[in-house]
Amino acid sequence: MTIRIAVVPGDGIGTEVIPAAVHVLQHLASRHDLALDLVPFDLGAERYLRDGTTMPPEVMERWRTDFQAILLGALGDPRVPGNQHAVDILLGARFQLDLYINLRPVRLLDARYTPLRGKDPSDIDFVVFRENTEGLYTGIGGQFKRGTPDEVTIEAELNTRKGVERIIRAAFAYAQAHGRGSVCMSDKSNAMRHGHDLWRRVFAEVSAEYPQIESFHLYVDALCMELVRAPERFEVIVTNNLFGDIITDLGAQLQGGIGLAASGNINPEGVALFEPVHGSAPDIVGRGIANPLAAILSVGMMLSHFGHADLDAAIQRAVQTCLAQGQVTPELGGELSTDQVTDRVIAHLR
Ligand code: NAI
Ligand code: MG
Repeated sequence: MTIRIAVVPGDGIGTEVIPAAVHVLQHLASRHDLALDLVPFDLGAERYLRDGTTMPPEVMERWRTDFQAILLGALGDPRVPGNQHAVDILLGARFQLDLYINLRPVRLLDARYTPLRGKDPSDIDFVVFRENTEGLYTGIGGQFKRGTPDEVTIEAELNTRKGVERIIRAAFAYAQAHGRGSVCMSDKSNAMRHGHDLWRRVFAEVSAEYPQIESFHLYVDALCMELVRAPERFEVIVTNNLFGDIITDLGAQLQGGIGLAASGNINPEGVALFEPVHGSAPDIVGRGIANPLAAILSVGMMLSHFGHADLDAAIQRAVQTCLAQGQVTPELGGELSTDQVTDRVIAHLR
């Protein structure tokens, strides 16, 4: 099967790390039985500033019907106040393509890069299933008397039975398929007694169908403490959109920093979008020092999603070798450029 991939470098360092990831993809395609069709899309702040286009509806339709995957860099540009283009493109894709699983692995590849004392790679190895289509990110709400002393705002949290059930089911199915022994669900049901009560009930129901998998619950504040104190407790975590966003940044630091954090936005029956967790990093753009490893690991997740777990493992091993040998960009204490790190990864893949 040919994998058709829409490639959107986007803004800032997205335009630096996506070519690096594509380079790795093309290298693997040339050496393995891997048919890829990479189609670039000019979307992002530059396009928006040039002609006012954010996300053409016909492009979204093409992604839905003609593509298996989307590879995205980052969206967000200081020249676009409010970043409407990012909302339309990234949140637009998540919502309109119903990419309800935001899968974020947190895996320490080399002990020296974690800020936690005395933790080994075996201690930090879990995946977060973040609900990606509802929660607090739907924009439901409003502002009243904006800009006055009497201003009132409402930001509504949406939790549907269908939405909660399918992400919890996806977490258990993943645990079962990948030999993970436990699933932790995290919410704030002690204070948010309507929506998060739904999460508690659905979690109890679905976990009963998987008696061989240990299931436990933590309030999200307690989860933050435990992730720092004892990350080895966790194998699979399932949570809502907001909490998943926050705890995966914490997770990114545990695994060595935002430059190493990869993610997938997945609709199991449709298209899937893979992206590094980081943003467009305007503070370092144009200097050739953006860490490409998060984007490269995201490409590994993409290959694994399409049945090439062996190639994903090979990418992870190559990245691990770079880390072990200090072949890294400055934010990880190295001296290499984006392109040099990419070349090292490809050399280790050989
Ligand atoms: P950011 O992730 O862009 O940067 C945070 C810090 O991490 C910065 O100091 C940056 O230099 C560093 N950093 C990030 N990625 C790096 C890499 N690959 N290599 C080396 N250093 C790296 O987050 P920030 O600054 O909060 O947001 C900047 C812009 O990106 C904003 O417009 C924001 O909305 C957008 N953004 C977009 C995301 C996406 O497209 N998925 C995710 C997060 C932020
Ligand atoms: Mg985030």
